[in-house]
Amino acid sequence: MKKEKDARGRLIDKYGQVTTRQYLVFVLTLFLIKTGGAAWYPAGCEIVEHSPNGTRVNCTDPVCKNPSFESSIFRWDGHHIIVTDEKRLNRSTMNMSYVTLQVNCEEHLTKIMKIDVLDVNDFPPIFDKGSPSLINVSEFALPEQTIWTFNAADADWNPDLSPRFKFILKGFLTEKYLKVEGSTEASIILNKPLDYEHLKKEDLTLILSAEDYCNFPCVTNYPVKTSNFTFTIHIKEEDTLPPIFQPPYCMTFDVDGDNGNESQLACANAMYNGTVMHDTTTINMPTPIRAKDGDEQLNAPIAYRILGGNDEKIFSIGDDGKLTLNDTAKKKYNQTYNLEILAVQKNNNFRSALTTAKIRVIQQNNYPPKFCKGRCGYIPSTEYMVVVFECHSLSPLRVLVCDNDYPPQNINPNARVKLRSQDESWATLTPDGYLLVNMSNMPPRGGLSNVEVTAMDLETNEATI
Ligand SMILES: *[C@@H]1O[C@H](CO)[C@@H](O)[C@H](O)[C@H]1NC(C)=O
Ligand SMILES: *[C@@H]1O[C@H](CO)[C@@H](O)[C@H](O)[C@H]1NC(C)=O
Ligand SMILES: *[C@@H]1O[C@H](CO)[C@@H](O)[C@H](O)[C@H]1NC(C)=O
Ligand SMILES: *[C@@H]1O[C@H](CO)[C@@H](O)[C@H](O)[C@H]1NC(C)=O
Ligand SMILES: *[C@@H]1O[C@H](CO)[C@@H](O)[C@H](O)[C@H]1NC(C)=O
Ligand SMILES: *[C@@H]1O[C@H](CO)[C@@H](O)[C@H](O)[C@H]1NC(C)=O
Ligand SMILES: *[C@@H]1O[C@H](CO)[C@@H](O)[C@H](O)[C@H]1NC(C)=O
Ligand SMILES: *[C@@H]1O[C@H](CO)[C@@H](O)[C@H](O)[C@H]1NC(C)=O
Ligand SMILES: *[C@@H]1O[C@H](CO)[C@@H](O)[C@H](O)[C@H]1NC(C)=O
Ligand SMILES: *[C@@H]1O[C@H](CO)[C@@H](O)[C@H](O)[C@H]1NC(C)=O
Ligand SMILES: *[C@@H]1O[C@H](CO)[C@@H](O)[C@H](O)[C@H]1NC(C)=O
Repeated sequence: MKKEKDARGRLIDKYGQVTTRQYLVFVLTLFLIKTGGAAWYPAGCEIVEHSPNGTRVNCTDPVCKNPSFESSIFRWDGHHIIVTDEKRLNRSTMNMSYVTLQVNCEEHLTKIMKIDVLDVNDFPPIFDKGSPSLINVSEFALPEQTIWTFNAADADWNPDLSPRFKFILKGFLTEKYLKVEGSTEASIILNKPLDYEHLKKEDLTLILSAEDYCNFPCVTNYPVKTSNFTFTIHIKEEDTLPPIFQPPYCMTFDVDGDNGNESQLACANAMYNGTVMHDTTTINMPTPIRAKDGDEQLNAPIAYRILGGNDEKIFSIGDDGKLTLNDTAKKKYNQTYNLEILAVQKNNNFRSALTTAKIRVIQQNNYPPKFCKGRCGYIPSTEYMVVVFECHSLSPLRVLVCDNDYPPQNINPNARVKLRSQDESWATLTPDGYLLVNMSNMPPRGGLSNVEVTAMDLETNEATI
């Protein structure tokens, strides 16, 4: 809005009203008349702290003609205010940032003069001697919880005044888990619970920096000073995880779902297969049933229970996870028992895990598996992948596993045949037992080669070569 002036020179707005600014000037004038003889000297006297004896105080305006004052720090040399005791110009011991002088001018006029003492940054911040370098934080500590408060001092400030700092916290994953707040003391605050397992069980090393402020008023280009304090956060593992059946199936996946690089390991309980001979009570478990506390350090003791699939109550499970069977008569051949097994921490029944063990009743096993025949074969001379023929025959060589437990053919249908690893570069065994050879890879051409085959009875884990 463009301001106009009226006939008396006052500012008026577009409606011809005298504006507020003009009223303010009137009020100030009244105040000056009322306070009369004693008044603040117009601003602008300053001296840098520790200025040596004899230094002139820098004033933008004169005090008055022939001033006089009583002071143990300054004197009047006829033209300027001069420092007489530099030791008193020390902001570390002053509780104010200025010195006042009562100045007597002519005509019995007294003025109160203020001389600003500009701070020089003589000292860096110092963290309390007693600050711990190791802080224990529970996994249960919640966001916004203050986990520690560090105190710092700065000798540029009178001890009766609170120094102010800019605190910065740096370290591994710091922004995500922790922050620092405060200007006179540094409160370390949790942003996110410290998950012991996710943080790979490592202690976090952090650096807390304190940067000092201008102790106003201060010299221009005030050089800030920094101190660092290094401390470690030890994450105290708590009972956060249930037991897990071993060996767990683990995979990494993107927890945030943001396709970022932050993936977490997630693990599922192992499941178990086992067999029991029709006529015995010995349960054959290729992988024994065992659960372990997910909180590795705590490693709470585990108890096992069969929750389901044991309607006839023939199975029981021990404190070591071992399944036992007490009744052979009720088992039917080829029957499968799906046992639901619970593992629970003995010290906390809210921490539990569930799995399934499939126990199959199999044919009795009195004979080991063995290769029926065909220990000799020949290869027609071609350049390609060929099937091996049985010696003295026109039929392809087939590796079959004989087992007298399976009459009348005595061939074990549950056997799995595999090549031993060193032959795999040039020979292949098909799932039904035919042997293929890659001629271009076969080492001694034309001569004799041996192929070793292993056979395993999948039901009993018996092996033969
Ligand atoms: C005195 O103060 C004026 C204005 O603040 C400044 O420009 C000048 O550099 C100062 N002189 C000294 C000697 O400090
Ligand atoms: C400055 O003056 C004070 C008081 O007059 C005196 O005690 C002090 O020793 C002097 N300092 C120097 C460096 O001369
Ligand atoms: C200012 O006072 C502090 C605190 O007594 C002292 O440590 C420091 O040496 C003094 N500075 C000077 C320049 O004398
Ligand atoms: C500052 O110290 C002086 C004496 O050194 C004392 O008289 C005055 O009350 C103190 N002022 C404050 C604000 O503490
Ligand atoms: C953290 O725990 C360790 C050992 O458990 C102990 O020595 C240390 O004093 C603890 N730190 C704090 C700040 O309580
Ligand atoms: C404090 O640490 C910062 C970086 O973290 C570094 O730039 C600075 O030099 C350190 N200061 C001291 C006094 O060690
Ligand atoms: C994840 O990616 C960000 C930026 O893409 C990178 O700063 C950070 O170091 C990465 N973290 C890990 C654990 O690779
Ligand atoms: C248990 O048997 C099922 C099929 O019968 C199979 O899919 C699974 O991989 C087996 N598990 C183990 C641990 O052998
Ligand atoms: C053994 O079997 C009987 C009956 O078949 C059953 O009542 C009993 O609970 C079983 N004992 C154990 C220890 O499993
Ligand atoms: C065993 O049971 C499976 C499926 O339950 C069946 O396919 C198989 O023929 C049975 N074997 C015998 C020998 O009864
Ligand atoms: C046979 O071996 C050669 C040389 O290693 C290879 O390039 C070729 O793919 C193999 N043939 C077959 C059918 O595996």
